[in-house]
Amino acid sequence: MLRSLVLVVVPALLVACGGGAKPATTPVSAAPKSLDEQVAAGEKLFAEKCASCHGEKGEGKDKAPALIGPKGLDEYHNAKEAFGYIKDNMPPEKAGSLSNDEYWHVTAFLIKRNGLELKEQLGSANAESVKWSR
Ligand code: HEC
Repeated sequence: MLRSLVLVVVPALLVACGGGAKPATTPVSAAPKSLDEQVAAGEKLFAEKCASCHGEKGEGKDKAPALIGPKGLDEYHNAKEAFGYIKDNMPPEKAGSLSNDEYWHVTAFLIKRNGLELKEQLGSANAESVKWSR
């Protein structure tokens, strides 16, 4: 009796604890160690979360305006504004669905691809000082 109980309970526990599951893979949001890594993370996020509407190269489509190009990010004056808009509005219907860090990564990617100046990883500490006018 006891033996059969153990036989039932042990496998059930293994399943509940995720026994045999693969070791956790590095999350996409692992903190980047350099600006290049942040931009690469942003590029990946852009492809996954934004490109379906804004185009693979951010060139714009009938669904959504261009984000990369001669007028990319023109509406904003600094990285804080761009980040704020994106976080509060994008993707439409799912605003705020990325983590804060992910929004910084994707904003850094857009800034870089627009040829605007960004010398170090983007975050709340430096966003206001990353400015542009054109
Ligand atoms: C479901 C389609 C869709 C997805 C996905 C989407 N967007 Fe948008 N985006 C839009 C539309 C539509 C607009 C125009 C909204 C407006 O003008 O009110 C827009 C506007 C923008 C703007 C302002 C551009 C301008 O010139 O006014 C930015 C910046 C932006 N999106 C960034 C992003 C980012 C970054 C992502 C991914 C995290 C994203 N969007 C995902 C549809 C989308």
